[in-house]
Amino acid sequence: MIQEGLTIHSQEAINLEDRYGAHNYHPLPVVLSKGEGVFLWSPEGKKYYDFLSAYSAVNQGHCHPKILQALYDQAAQLTLTSRAFHNDVLGQYEKYITELLGYDKVLPMNTGVEGGETALKLCRKWAYTVKGVPENQAKIIFVEGNFWGRTLAAISSSTDPGSYKGFGPYMPGYELIPYNNLEALEKALEDPNVAGFMVEPIQGEAGVVVPDEGYLKKAYELCKAKNVLFIADEVQTGLARTGKMLCCDHEGVKPDILILGKALSGGVLPVSAVLCDDEIMLTIKPGEHGSTYGGNPLACRVAMAALQVLIDENLAEKAQKLGVIFRERMNKIIEQRPDLIIKVRGKGLLNAIVINDSEESPTAWNICLNLAEKGLLAKPTHGNIIRFAPPLVINEIQLNDCCNIIEEVILEFQK
Ligand SMILES: Cc1ncc(COP(=O)(O)O)c(C=O)c1O
Repeated sequence: MIQEGLTIHSQEAINLEDRYGAHNYHPLPVVLSKGEGVFLWSPEGKKYYDFLSAYSAVNQGHCHPKILQALYDQAAQLTLTSRAFHNDVLGQYEKYITELLGYDKVLPMNTGVEGGETALKLCRKWAYTVKGVPENQAKIIFVEGNFWGRTLAAISSSTDPGSYKGFGPYMPGYELIPYNNLEALEKALEDPNVAGFMVEPIQGEAGVVVPDEGYLKKAYELCKAKNVLFIADEVQTGLARTGKMLCCDHEGVKPDILILGKALSGGVLPVSAVLCDDEIMLTIKPGEHGSTYGGNPLACRVAMAALQVLIDENLAEKAQKLGVIFRERMNKIIEQRPDLIIKVRGKGLLNAIVINDSEESPTAWNICLNLAEKGLLAKPTHGNIIRFAPPLVINEIQLNDCCNIIEEVILEFQK
């Protein structure tokens, strides 16, 4: 038995997970027991810079005092009613987030993948009741390399065998086209049964793949011309991460359906949301969709606090400015080690370096181990790509400190 208040050692924590937990993850051998702002600590007291931010869920920094205060205050008052009844926070949150982001309505859910599922259900319902697609014929277009979670509907659109293999049969009604390819989109849109096009403005899990400038805008216009809904999955790119409140803002695109998650709670609890206007949202009637926890007062209060922190602390502008510095520093490192690193790419503080090696090689993993040793936590994605996404509350001195660590590790690294 673990006594209350007694933390365990790192190795013990790893052993317990290995023995009693499912083996569906392969974490770095680092155990964390405390977080504050941009920092994390192990049970033994080793201090790290967090350069992953729980896949961009902790944009506001770990344990942000204003978000925690909202959590404590609301937790002491009321946490969950279900949607069988009204609660006195949900409406306030709905007003707040829809006014902030410029949509008629919001549908609150919990995880990012539930946000994606909700968006697709809305899209299909709209197709049948508004657009006039024949029953069960609606088609959704996805792009290769997409990632929106682990449900059967999500993996059915995946092109990564690690995600979909062994879990069939898959969801029908999908079409896959290459990312960043407008011709392919134009062609796919010729089918009158296409209801929606779902896309990440930057592909996060695929390795921070940034499309050409103008892609989103043109894709949106092509969708409009065919009365097809443009669905933006901003679960990872949204909420100040890329230097704007939404990544689509970089191209002045307002998605028909917007999916948010992760940083909507600042890493405190799962909160996701789908936003759209009445023509789409009101196609779903009472009893046709929902979630026990979606829209709970605790999540609503936390989400308002988390969004307010993004605004009050100008985190989008900060991400924009620091992102430029970060990529400049990385490009200087690449000049010195072109044998090891091919390029840096990203927007704002969502960036990645591409290692000059195959996806099967352990190089990126070993670089991450060395980074951890020197006090910086990052994780490879797709084998040879290392994503760098610190909490947006990082300051310039800290960012440069982190760049120094990365530089040291890369320059010393023996393949
Ligand atoms: C773009 C995108 N959409 C959806 C999801 C799924 O979010 P969740 O893990 O909260 O279900 C993720 C998770 O990484 C994501 O990156």
